[in-house]
Amino acid sequence: MKEKLEQIKKSSEELLKNAGSLKELEELKVKFLGKKGELTSILKMMGGLSPEERPKMGQLANEVRSKIEEDFQNAFKDIKEKELELKLKAEKLDVTIKGTPVAKGHLHPLSQTLENLENIFIGLGFTVVEGPEVETDHYNFEALNVPKDHPARDMQDTFYLGENLLLRTQTSAAQIRTMETLKPPIRIICPGRVYRSDDVDATHSPVFHQVEGLVVDKGITMCDLKGTLEIMVHEIYGNDTKVKFRPSFFPFTEPSVEVDVSCPECGGKGCRVCKGSGWIEILGAGMVHPRVLKGCGIDPDVYSGFAFGIGLDRLTTTRHKISDIRLLFENDDRFLKQF
Ligand code: DAH
Repeated sequence: MKEKLEQIKKSSEELLKNAGSLKELEELKVKFLGKKGELTSILKMMGGLSPEERPKMGQLANEVRSKIEEDFQNAFKDIKEKELELKLKAEKLDVTIKGTPVAKGHLHPLSQTLENLENIFIGLGFTVVEGPEVETDHYNFEALNVPKDHPARDMQDTFYLGENLLLRTQTSAAQIRTMETLKPPIRIICPGRVYRSDDVDATHSPVFHQVEGLVVDKGITMCDLKGTLEIMVHEIYGNDTKVKFRPSFFPFTEPSVEVDVSCPECGGKGCRVCKGSGWIEILGAGMVHPRVLKGCGIDPDVYSGFAFGIGLDRLTTTRHKISDIRLLFENDDRFLKQF
């Protein structure tokens, strides 16, 4: 029996040395130490020994068992370490390898122009405000000196949502909201979408964009309006661009003007873009009508102001020589990539 125990010890040592994987080790463990394993079956034969031999053999068997268990523990540890090492080697990452470049998007040309405008006006001390696209008749028309049956309503084809609710046709509505909440001095611009029931063509869209401007303070004159708009035009189109104020009519300004810039396409000589005139209209403006100021609780004998409404789409198409406004809304990647 002693020999058998020695033999088991030896053969387990031998096999352990050659075991190459955790799986192999598990199998060997069952073979030697398992319930039906070699050591257990020998221990079962202890009953047949004489009482003198039994304790000696018992002791030896325990020693052999402890030794084998210890060997297994060590072997497990070694193999686990080896396997981890192999895994780390196989999964090694080279963080210095160059990646695949991901194409970065950029701002839409309308957003670029708007960002330019915002920077220009913020530089002049203006604040950017926002107003709702669904407006009441009061803010879009009444308070801007356009009562219900006024012929000026025909200037803008309106999408009505109810008797007194509509999609704003002009960002001018923001003038009233601002004057109702802020006290002069006021210097704001309000960019946003506006809506008119127009048919779509190369220069019209039922949804387009305006940037409203409003300044109210003591002693504001038409010169302030002119100076402010000239700075804006020169920043957007370049210093060589000429600016022309043309008398016009808007119910909420008196006097009113429309502002033209020398055609960026032909430089003023006359071409298809400016329809031969050499000029392109980019905005409406004027001195805020005393009735409008009064309606907002601002005394027109103390304060005066100017206002303007820039067509953002027009500004964008003319400065980039884009021939069709629809291109701005189609989101064709081949078009957008050029800006
Ligand atoms: N709201 C006008 C339009 O949509 C543009 C405009 C004209 C705005 C004169 C103004 C202004 O603030 O003073 O046609």
